[in-house]
Amino acid sequence: MKMLSFVSTALAGLALFCCNQALGASCVTTECHPGISALKYPHAPVKEGDCAPCHTQTVKEHPVKGGKSFQLAAKGGDLCKDCHDGIGKKKVVHAPVQEAECTGCHKPHGSNESFLLEVGEDRSQLCFSCHESAPFKAKFMHGPAAVGSCNACHDPHESAEKALLKGTVREVCLKCHADFDQAMKGAAVVHPPVRDDPCTACHDPHGSPVVMFLKNKMPDLCIGCHKGIGKTVANVKVPHKPVVSDGGCSNCHSAHYAKAKGLLASDQMGVCLGCHGRDDLGTPPLKNISKQLEGKKMLHGPIQKGDCKACHDPHGSDYFRLLRGSYPAPLYVPYKDGLYDACLKCHEKNLLRFAETTIYTKFRNGNRNLHYVHVVNRKGRTCRICHEPHASNGDKLISKEGTQFGDWKIPIGFATTETGGSCAPGCHRKFKYDRVKAEVYQ
Ligand code: HEC
Ligand code: HEC
Ligand code: HEC
Ligand code: HEC
Ligand code: HEC
Ligand code: HEC
Ligand code: HEC
Ligand code: HEC
Ligand code: HEC
Ligand code: HEC
Ligand code: HEC
Ligand code: HEC
Ligand code: HEC
Repeated sequence: MKMLSFVSTALAGLALFCCNQALGASCVTTECHPGISALKYPHAPVKEGDCAPCHTQTVKEHPVKGGKSFQLAAKGGDLCKDCHDGIGKKKVVHAPVQEAECTGCHKPHGSNESFLLEVGEDRSQLCFSCHESAPFKAKFMHGPAAVGSCNACHDPHESAEKALLKGTVREVCLKCHADFDQAMKGAAVVHPPVRDDPCTACHDPHGSPVVMFLKNKMPDLCIGCHKGIGKTVANVKVPHKPVVSDGGCSNCHSAHYAKAKGLLASDQMGVCLGCHGRDDLGTPPLKNISKQLEGKKMLHGPIQKGDCKACHDPHGSDYFRLLRGSYPAPLYVPYKDGLYDACLKCHEKNLLRFAETTIYTKFRNGNRNLHYVHVVNRKGRTCRICHEPHASNGDKLISKEGTQFGDWKIPIGFATTETGGSCAPGCHRKFKYDRVKAEVYQ
């Protein structure tokens, strides 16, 4: 066999190995190092037959039985540096690259896969030779991580971003999820962490035990940031049912972006009526609020603005019917201070304080406060005896159809005048009241 005579090992650079072709070609023959010639993707210098940049002959004889006539021209990555000197200069450098362990991943001569790797498109086996594979076997896996396309997001060598990412986390995610990006740009409301934080604030990029590879199950994920709401839901006497049932927060909110304020799919009232527009919600069924509002002459002030939450806390409350203050459940209740906070947080605070008044209510006969008479005195009638909470066909939110009293609807027969009014209720005979010229009752 013909001896090899190597030119200087300082022979670096691409221009030079062309000249060694003849020598190299004689190393790789059917008898000698046939494994190298059989490679589907030989490394460029190997393909050119240039062995010298990497191997220096130390002993004239070759082959030497039981001995070595070549040594590597340099150690580790120094072997590659002369031809590939651009790698490892960015802010974040992968540890094995930093330590010049190029051959930890690449086969120096070539391979049957591209990039001198022993793996194909599925890079996981390569990565798992150093990294733990456990996180990649979660119950819910992200497509590209599941198939080992680590390179879709990570650069194997270096990056200007943390975790060797090919861009910021958002850029990386939105590059593939372009439809998401498009929809988000067109949305009226974007959740601040989705707009400003990396998507990894909520998602694990690889996989997790939670559906959609969320970092935590719902609603804990949301409550992790929205601690106040977490406290409300955990501590209130009555959490709103949908908040604590399947779907949780997502029953009303989008996690990312939405058409309407509050990350709601539609305006707030539309969301509420989406569930409360039925006759069979709950046992016993709650009133159908859509029906209560439909075609009514008068809508209660906040409802004119579509604001159900002005009175109800959508997440939960300590009070009757999720109201934001005290309001009694029974039809009759002995009066005490604070009992009607739910109403009086918006209405005249002194409505029920004085038996005589000239200013705090129009429901009076002369100076006699008829709210006081009905609500504070004796039996303690609740507001609902006379007023509807949401809407009415009569004036002053007083029902034309009558108030529910057991099985019966008490007619109220209410009418107003310039200076007073009259009622002919099922409770007593018809009475008039007049603020200017007090009626005299028998
Ligand atoms: C880019 C650098 C590089 C080039 C070019 C190169 N080699 Fe190597 N070669 C290496 C390295 C590095 C090792 C040590 C591999 C290891 O320890 O796994 C090696 C090992 C070897 C070995 C011994 C171990 C084995 O793989 O069987 C032989 C034989 C060999 N090379 C032959 C050649 C021949 C012949 C050529 C030219 C056609 C050549 N090499 C070109 C880097 C190179
Ligand atoms: C952790 C494994 C790993 C290490 C260590 C590594 N590489 Fe790579 N390298 C890869 C992978 C994977 C690819 C394929 C890149 C792709 O899929 O886009 C690659 C591609 C390459 C390429 C071709 C594409 C390009 O980026 O230019 C070169 C050249 C290269 N590596 C050289 C090196 C050198 C030189 C070193 C040592 C300083 C090194 N690599 C260390 C994994 C590694
Ligand atoms: C003598 C010069 C030379 C040396 C030394 C050298 N390479 Fe290369 N390498 C090349 C050339 C030339 C290419 C082809 C570049 C191209 O196609 O753009 C190449 C390509 C590669 C590729 C890409 C292969 C592909 O399929 O695209 C990798 C990976 C690589 N080299 C890794 C290494 C590693 C690792 C070392 C050190 C062990 C090394 N190279 C040493 C010249 C060299
Ligand atoms: C030769 C061993 C080795 C291989 C192979 C390897 N890594 Fe690494 N990698 C390390 C070491 C060591 C660290 C640094 C220690 C750590 O942070 O866990 C690291 C760190 C990382 C980091 C974190 C970087 C940072 O700064 O936060 C990422 C991401 C990473 N590797 C991805 C990959 C991917 C993707 C592959 C497969 C293409 C891969 N690694 C293959 C050894 C390796
Ligand atoms: C869809 C994009 C994507 C894919 C695919 C992907 N990763 Fe990651 N990876 C990330 C992001 C984003 C981070 C940073 C996580 C963070 O900020 O906490 C990361 C972090 C890492 C880290 C650093 C340690 C950690 O877990 O935080 C390692 C190691 C890692 N990835 C390895 C891999 C390997 C191995 C694969 C392929 C099996 C892979 N990744 C596939 C996006 C991806
Ligand atoms: C390389 C492209 C790619 C990148 C980068 C990418 N994804 Fe994906 N993602 C996919 C594919 C493909 C699916 C599966 C789509 C399907 O099932 O319709 C998917 C699915 C998802 C899903 C589940 C969707 C569903 O309906 O099941 C979530 C959540 C997700 N990705 C979040 C992310 C996040 C967060 C990032 C950034 C860390 C990211 N993706 C980066 C390609 C990508
Ligand atoms: C505040 C937490 C949070 C953040 C931040 C977040 N997500 Fe999500 N993501 C979720 C939740 C929760 C789901 C499950 C579906 C649902 O309930 O709306 C989800 C589902 C998804 C889905 C599948 C369903 C769909 O809506 O298409 C994709 C894709 C997705 N997220 C991508 C992203 C991307 C990309 C980012 C970053 C721009 C991101 N997510 C940021 C919480 C979040
Ligand atoms: C990483 C922290 C974080 C997580 C996790 C998070 N949020 Fe938020 N969210 C915010 C911040 C910051 C704001 C804006 C300030 C505020 O209103 O508290 C916000 C605002 C909101 C708003 C009000 C938006 C508006 O326009 O009025 C809603 C509704 C909301 N988040 C729901 C959710 C839901 C549902 C989840 C769970 C899928 C969730 N959030 C998870 C940080 C988070
Ligand atoms: C039944 C529907 C519903 C459910 C379920 C629900 N919310 Fe809300 N949430 C609302 C409405 C309605 C608003 C008021 C939106 C607006 O008009 O600004 C709101 C407002 C918010 C706000 C804005 C700040 C505030 O306190 O008003 C946050 C944050 C929020 N919700 C988080 C959550 C979280 C976290 C969950 C799950 C634990 C959840 N929501 C479940 C209906 C709901
Ligand atoms: C996803 C469906 C859904 C949405 C949206 C929804 N609710 Fe409810 N709501 C329910 C269910 C279910 C109950 C409990 C029914 C039962 O079991 O009695 C309930 C109960 C109530 C109750 C009575 C609570 C009690 O225990 O006395 C009020 C008041 C209420 N909801 C108001 C609202 C308001 C205001 C909105 C809009 C901010 C709204 N709901 C949105 C499903 C919904
Ligand atoms: C001005 C305050 C106020 C506003 C605004 C308001 N509600 Fe109410 N709501 C009440 C009061 C008070 C009750 C208790 C009625 C009673 O039992 O007398 C109630 C009761 C309910 C009930 C329980 C019905 C039943 O079966 O007893 C539901 C459901 C409800 N409201 C939904 C809504 C929805 C949906 C909206 C928005 C369209 C809304 N509320 C707006 C004050 C209000
Ligand atoms: C969130 C504030 C708010 C709460 C709470 C509230 N209201 Fe009202 N209410 C209004 C507004 C606004 C109007 C419209 C006032 C106007 O048109 O001058 C109104 C109008 C009325 C009217 C008709 C007055 C008129 O002159 O036409 C009555 C009666 C009434 N409310 C009773 C109640 C009762 C009973 C409650 C408790 C169950 C209550 N309100 C809770 C805001 C509220
Ligand atoms: C016995 C029937 C009756 C009861 C019970 C009743 N109201 Fe009235 N309320 C009226 C009448 C009648 C008017 C109309 C007075 C007028 O304008 O002539 C009225 C008017 C009002 C008004 C408009 C402002 C005013 O005072 O003139 C408010 C607000 C109001 N009521 C709140 C309440 C609240 C809150 C309760 C329960 C604490 C309640 N009402 C209980 C009959 C009643």
